[in-house]
Amino acid sequence: MRVLVIGGGGREHALCWAIANSPLVEKLYCAPGNGGIASVAELVEIGAGDVAGLVAWAAANAVDLVVPGPEAPLVAGLVDAMDAAGVPCFGPSARAARLEGSKAFMKEVADAAGVPTAAWRRFDDAAEARAWAAGRGAPMVVKADGLAAGKGVTVAATLEEAHEAIDDALVAGVFGAAGASVVIEEFLEGEEASVHVLADGRAVLPLATAQDHKTAGEGDTGPNTGGMGCCSPAPAVDPAMEAAILETVVRPTLAELARRGCPFRGVLYAGLMLTPEGPKLLEYNVRFGDPECQAMMARLKSDLVPALVAARDGALRHLDLRWRDEAALCVVMATRGYPGPYPKPTPITGLDEAAADSDTIVFHAGTRRDGERWLSDGGRVLGVTALGGTVAEAQARAYAAVDRIDWAEGFCRRDIGWRAIARER
Ligand code: AMP
Ligand code: GLY
Repeated sequence: MRVLVIGGGGREHALCWAIANSPLVEKLYCAPGNGGIASVAELVEIGAGDVAGLVAWAAANAVDLVVPGPEAPLVAGLVDAMDAAGVPCFGPSARAARLEGSKAFMKEVADAAGVPTAAWRRFDDAAEARAWAAGRGAPMVVKADGLAAGKGVTVAATLEEAHEAIDDALVAGVFGAAGASVVIEEFLEGEEASVHVLADGRAVLPLATAQDHKTAGEGDTGPNTGGMGCCSPAPAVDPAMEAAILETVVRPTLAELARRGCPFRGVLYAGLMLTPEGPKLLEYNVRFGDPECQAMMARLKSDLVPALVAARDGALRHLDLRWRDEAALCVVMATRGYPGPYPKPTPITGLDEAAADSDTIVFHAGTRRDGERWLSDGGRVLGVTALGGTVAEAQARAYAAVDRIDWAEGFCRRDIGWRAIARER
C-alpha cells in the first residue's frame, strides 16, 4: 500500500512510526511532516490545510490510504473531497466532523441522544449572553463555537471573566468566524478523563486509555497548552468506567449521528468529567489526541493499518487490537515561553543518546534538520516516550531520556503521570 499521513506534529510522527512498521505498507508519505518524521516517511511539501492540493497530490500519486492527523482538514471536508476523487481516506466526513468543529452542534447531538453533559445555551449576541450569564452567576465556561486552535475555552471563576470572554468572542472577534457564536455552559467539577474509539459508522472498537496533562505548569496549574505529556493506560478509566462511558456517551452519540444521515467513521476522542453522578461529556475531538497518540502507538502490538482500513470500510466488527501490558509515558519537551511566544530555531543535541534504550522513542513534534544538526521548529518540539512495567517505571525511563537531551531553550514538566502513579501506590 501507498499511505499518506497528513500533519506535522508529534501525533503524526507516532502515526507514521506505527504505519511504517506495517508489512502492508510499501511507501509512506507525510505532508508536510517534520525533520523527525523524515526518518520514517518521505515528506511532501503541502500544508495540512491545503485540501485541494492534498487531494490532487494523493490522486496523482495513486495513494491507497490517507490518514489525516489534525482536525482542521477534516472539518474543512478533506474526507469528502478525497472520496469524490476516489482516494480512500480514514476519518469522518465534514458533517460528522462538526462534533469537533461546532460546540453547539456537539451539544445539540448530545441532548438529542440523551448523553449526560453540562447544561448549556448558545448566543450570537453579546448583550443577551452577558445578561444570561449575570442571571446564572459564576463559575461557568464560555466557549467559542468553532475551531479556535485550542484557545477558545474560558473557565470563568467570576462573572467579570465570563463577560470578558463573551466580549472577546462576540465583540472584539478575537477568534474570527470561529467565535461568531459562543456556548456558555455549566461548570463541572471532577477529574478529567478521555477515551478514544475507532468507529466505522456501526461498530465501535475502544483503543487503549490515556490521560494527558493539559497545562504548562506542574501539578496541573498554569496556562492551557496542546498537551504537555500523558500516560497510557489511564487508571481513572477502569474497565467498568470505560463500559459506562461507551454505553452512556459514545454509543448514543454515534447512533444519533447515524440517524441524522452522517455516520461517524474514524477515531473519536471523548473528553469527560468524572463527576459524582457519573461521567459527563465535555468535548469531542474527531482525531487522535496529541500526545495521547504517542503513548498509544508505543503500546500497540497489532498492525494499525488494517484497523484504519476497517474503520473506513465498515469492517471493524471483524477486528481486534492487541496492546502491550506495559505502561507508556510521553513527556512533551517545548521551547521556553510556550504556550506564549518562544524563540526558533534553537539547537538540540543528544537525541540519539536519548533514544538509545530500546524501550524509549523520541517522537518529533516540531524539529527540522540543518545538515547534521537538529533545530527546534515550534512550541511543542519533542515527545519523549518510554515503556515500563508500571507508569512509575515508564516515567523514570522517560525522564532519564529527557536528561540526555541537551537543549538550552527547552523545558518540560517533571511530573507527567503523577495522577496515575498516585493510584499505583
Ligand atoms: P474543551 O475543549 O471543551 O474540552 O475544553 C477545554 C478544557 O476546559 C477541558 O479540558 C476542561 O478542562 C475545561 N472545561 C470545558 N468544559 C468544562 C465544563 N463544563 N466544566 C469544567 N471545565 C470545563
Ligand atoms: N491532548 C489533547 C488534545 O489532543 O486535544
